[in-house]
Amino acid sequence: MMIALPLHLLAAVIWLGGMFFAYTALRPAAVELLTQEQRLPLWAGVLKTFFNWVWLSIITLLVTGGWMIPLLGGMGGVDGVGIHVHIMLLIGIFMMLIFMHVFFNPFKKLKWAVAEHDWIAAGTALTQIRKLVLLNLILGIITILIASSGRYWLS
Ligand code: HEM
Repeated sequence: MMIALPLHLLAAVIWLGGMFFAYTALRPAAVELLTQEQRLPLWAGVLKTFFNWVWLSIITLLVTGGWMIPLLGGMGGVDGVGIHVHIMLLIGIFMMLIFMHVFFNPFKKLKWAVAEHDWIAAGTALTQIRKLVLLNLILGIITILIASSGRYWLS
């Protein structure tokens, strides 16, 4: 727990913090200050780097989360842990699937469209990414709230 929990939290902070920054700080500034031809390549570049960190965060969350379950649940495994961990696992997996959809569909389209200078297709792909990132940000915040406080009111 001494190693797994801090790594788990670090991974969650990197993933959620990046989405929060992108949505609440970078997006409004980019919309205000940049033209579409400047903004779309910027997003393709920013997301390329950030998504590598998200992959690392996902692997870390799964490994450390899976590592902590037997430590907390003993021989009962996932049946031995609190309901807040079940909810975390469920929403966490859902968030990961949403991320993978973004990565392999609209993000791939965004990169292709930016390379082709097809700003309409790039704009459509970015809108899809923005909506799904907002969904994941909301799910992530709910997960953090349940994961950190659930043991006091859920079980
Ligand atoms: C999907 C796989 C995941 C698994 C298997 C998992 C498992 C766990 C386990 C076993 C704990 C320790 C619980 C306790 O001490 O009672 C924990 C803690 C925590 N997890 Fe997860 N987790 C996962 C995903 C996530 C995600 C996606 C987030 C955030 C977005 C998250 C946020 C947290 C937080 C904030 C804690 C600290 C709770 C505390 O000690 O106060 N987890 N996780």
